[in-house]
Amino acid sequence: MIILDTKEDYKNYINLLKSKGEIISLVPTMGNLHDGHLSLVEIAKKKSSKVITTIFINPLQFGKNEDFASYPRTMKQDIDKLKKHNCDILFAPKSKNEVFNNFDDLKNLKAGPKGNILCGKIRPGHFDGVLKVVYMLFQLTEPNLSVFGKKDFQQLYLIKQMAKKYFPKLKIISAPTIRTKNGLALSSRNLYLDKTSIRIAPLFYKILLDGIKNLKNSNNFEETIKYITANLEKNKFLVNYVSFMTTELEKLKLNTSERKILLSSVKLGQTRLIDNIEFN
Ligand code: PAJ
Repeated sequence: MIILDTKEDYKNYINLLKSKGEIISLVPTMGNLHDGHLSLVEIAKKKSSKVITTIFINPLQFGKNEDFASYPRTMKQDIDKLKKHNCDILFAPKSKNEVFNNFDDLKNLKAGPKGNILCGKIRPGHFDGVLKVVYMLFQLTEPNLSVFGKKDFQQLYLIKQMAKKYFPKLKIISAPTIRTKNGLALSSRNLYLDKTSIRIAPLFYKILLDGIKNLKNSNNFEETIKYITANLEKNKFLVNYVSFMTTELEKLKLNTSERKILLSSVKLGQTRLIDNIEFN
């Protein structure tokens, strides 16, 4: 695996790959890699001739009181995992200047109204920060395809919209959520959970699944949201939001044939968990 940490070396290497006609896929991450991230590398591997993973903890997407400073940094282990999964190139910018030097170009890049709902409502500016870094990585790499996880459904949706507008030839691939055996969606932040919370955390997904069953019987979104919220609270989750929407993140009408999604964010102790389930 080739490891690069400056923009200049990276750009030169990309040009070399392009001159050889390689099909390039990009898997952006913030590191502390787990099987969820590695599943994206596997998908990318099947669809391209060269897989690039990036590891960059993007300061722009963290709020003032969030965990930028304590976000787990595990580069050595991450490199071993990527090598085992036959990743071809790792770009791990050594400073934020390697990513954001034409910062002025990005001033007007905003996630818009759909970036201000759900997670965007509890994390103001978060998705603007995500789009800025992903935009820069797309611009630098000009990949043929890029893979993102459905676990971060709102992020995936906003990246798809941004790519459609600014990188129309780029294909965005949506990857299924990888979970532990008991249903907890893998996340780097699960590391923060203490012993008691780790035991409770899998109930989050189970309660959401049960909520969808409840909706099929009640046919009433408000009642079901109350039912799910009560169930979560009973189990010590602090509920940020529970929301039914269309998969276009639009308001959902009853008895529509549109594809639907239940999205939720909770806090367990100090740890924020998000999850979602798509259904018909
Ligand atoms: P990070 O949280 O490291 O996630 C990197 C990618 O892995 C994202 O596309 C995310 O959706 C995916 N992912 C995380 N957990 C997953 C799971 N359990 N199953 C499947 N995929 C999973 O998301 C980010 O970083 C950042 O916001 C980033 C896009 C890199 C921009 O900084």
